[in-house]
Amino acid sequence: MAAISVLNVYDNGALPGTDLIGAKGQSFVIDIDGERTLFDTGMRGRYLMHNLGILKIDPESIDRVVISHGHYDHAGGLPDFLEARERPVEVIVHPLFHRKRARGFRGLPYKMIGPPKLLDGQREMMALNEVSDWTPLSDHMLLVTAPPRKHKDAIGDRLLVKDEEGWRRDDMEDELSLVLSSDQGLVVITGCCHRGLLNLLDSIKERLDIPVAAVIGGLHMSSFTDAEIDNVVRRLRKDQGQPQLYLNHCTGEDAMTRMREAFGLDGVKDFYVGTRFDLEDAGETKLI
Ligand SMILES: [Fe+2]
Ligand SMILES: [Fe+2]
Repeated sequence: MAAISVLNVYDNGALPGTDLIGAKGQSFVIDIDGERTLFDTGMRGRYLMHNLGILKIDPESIDRVVISHGHYDHAGGLPDFLEARERPVEVIVHPLFHRKRARGFRGLPYKMIGPPKLLDGQREMMALNEVSDWTPLSDHMLLVTAPPRKHKDAIGDRLLVKDEEGWRRDDMEDELSLVLSSDQGLVVITGCCHRGLLNLLDSIKERLDIPVAAVIGGLHMSSFTDAEIDNVVRRLRKDQGQPQLYLNHCTGEDAMTRMREAFGLDGVKDFYVGTRFDLEDAGETKLI
């Protein structure tokens, strides 16, 4: 029987009373099916390596890396992580991950926020695997691509991407999420969830039809109005069976507070560096 564990190793917040560093970004270590996945790498490599050291995660023990999207606060730690390794490791990204990204105003870029450049030695430590469709990674773990946008998304017009035609609004087509399966339901793991939580959960429901027990990650809802947050609350209750929320990173204070008022302290938990989500037994519910 497989146990599931998701350990936060990089986030905007860290557990108090520890030497762990909290800084903008996100990274989780996921143990399932006897394999260890690093989901995102945070923004600064030395903070990631510091936190991994304190949490006793040997970089060599990671079997694969998945990067949720091409923003620097999720991909920025990759060069230092690869540098720390002796053996190459699989790195899974969407084919559109590599494009230049910026934060901008009226379509004009003013701050680069794209993925980091890798040096030759670092690139040699990476077995790049570009994935553009839903892909099982093990018996209980599925990689999920950017969902269609039916509900409000969490993108806004300040995120830009550069393609052949120049800078344009970034639709975040490269966004990847993970779904873990268990007898208690699905565990959905998000990066920034730029394409919108309701859109992601709807696309999972359509294809898997298994209830979602928990959502872990950042939801990027700071641009949501109160009414839009309340709509997410309503839909989570009505359509999704009110999953447990373990939130962090870019979720946004208003969204966190409002969802906590609706679901209670038990329904919405902080998920900071040093926090671990554990399920003793994933059971027999497999995704493939
Ligand atoms: Fe982010
Ligand atoms: Fe992002």
